[in-house]
This record gives sequence, C-alpha cells and structure tokens, in this order.
Amino acid sequence: MVAASNLSNTNNTLRNCVIITIDTDRLTIRNFTADDWQDLQEVIIHYQASKWAKLEDPWPTATDEVKQIAQWFAAGNEYLAVCLKPTGKVIGLVAIERRKEQAEQVHNLGYVFDPTFPGQGYATEGCRAVMAFVFEQLRAAAFLTGTRPENIPSVRLLDRLGLKPIGNGEYRITKEEWLSQLKTQ
Ligand SMILES: CC(C)(COP(=O)(O)OP(=O)(O)OC[C@H]1O[C@@H](n2cnc3c(N)ncnc32)[C@H](O)[C@@H]1OP(=O)(O)O)[C@@H](O)C(=O)NCCC(=O)NCCS
Repeated sequence: MVAASNLSNTNNTLRNCVIITIDTDRLTIRNFTADDWQDLQEVIIHYQASKWAKLEDPWPTATDEVKQIAQWFAAGNEYLAVCLKPTGKVIGLVAIERRKEQAEQVHNLGYVFDPTFPGQGYATEGCRAVMAFVFEQLRAAAFLTGTRPENIPSVRLLDRLGLKPIGNGEYRITKEEWLSQLKTQ
C-alpha cells in the first residue's frame, strides 16, 4: 500500500524533460540518470536469466549498450527508475509511454523489476504510485498495456493494480475505474 506519495511535476505532458520524483513508503521513483547504467545492467542481467524473459523480446546486456539505454531513458520522462529508499539502488523500471494511436491520453504501463527482490510487493508499490502520478498529475484518461497469459507474475501484478483484460492479451484501466477502486481500498 502506498501510504505517502510526494509527487512533484511541473508539466502535464511527457514531451519536455521535467523532474519527476515520487516517494512511497519504501521506494523513490525518479527520472533515470546516465549514471544509473550499472544498476540498470544488473536488473537487466538478472531479468534476462529469469524464465519470464524468454516470453519477451531480449534486452541487451553489454556495457556499451546498457550505457546507451540509460542515456536514452535519462533524456525523457517515459522510463522511470525505481530505487530502494535506504540505499538508492535501482531495482526496477516503470515505463509510461503515451499510446499515440489512442485518441484520448492513454499511457502504456511497462515494468521490469530485478528478480533477486521477488515477492516483496515492490512492483505493486511502484506501479501504484506511478499510476497515481499519471492519473492525477498528467491527467491521463487510461492505462492500456499488454502481457502474455503465460507471464503469471505480470498477469497477477496487473490484477492487483486493477487493470482488466480486454482481449488479445491487453489490459486496461480508466481513470474512473481507478478512482472507484481507490474508494474501496
Ligand atoms: C512482473 C513483475 C514486476 C512482478 O514481480 P513480483 O515480484 O511478482 O511483484 P511484486 O514486487 O509486486 O510482488 C508481489 C508478490 O509479493 C507479495 N507481497 C509481499 N508483500 C507485498 C506487499 N507489501 N504488497 C504487495 N504484494 C506483496 C504478493 O503477494 C505477490 O506474491 P504472489 O504473486 O505470489 O501473490 C516481475 O515478475 C518482472 O519484472 N518480470 C519481468 C518483466 C515482465 O515480464 N514485464 C511484463 C511484460 S512487458
């Protein structure tokens, strides 16, 4: 459960690079910096070694490639670093790219968390806080994302977050559904 979210943002679009910082009980979620490449490489290497990675497109793990990814993430607001509060270590990422094919302001919800920190609710806590930020601060209308049915942890995460299957492996939650879900928590 996200008990305290400190949201700071100065723009309701993702086009300009604004500083995003979201605090939860155990996590700080923030823009990537180029210096995050080592933590990011660890997350990717651990993820690529997991059985769930075989269901998705592979990520590059070589140092030069990961440095480039970290630089690319750092240049925008669409990929956010999820850090453990006590140490600042990056343990995952949440992606919130705008779905440009949608007429309304709809965002993707992507996530990769280091599988060496499993089953502690970090992904749930991080994604919940990011969803609150995107609905409240960016004034999004909905999240729309996809996952394979065999990717059980991902399906369970989407269920915990309140996204509902709409067919073809896609999951959606509107702002209205998110607000009504908050009232029942
Ligand atoms: C999808 C993914 C983020 C889920 O990771 P996860 O560790 O299962 O998720 P969480 O960190 O939210 O932990 C939830 C688990 O911890 C448990 N838990 C413990 N404390 C908790 C807490 N405080 N809050 C919520 N859950 C908690 C939950 O019961 C749950 O376990 P369960 O599924 O056995 O019931 C992870 O598997 C991943 O990164 N996969 C690779 C990337 C991927 O496949 N992305 C999707 C396709 S693009």
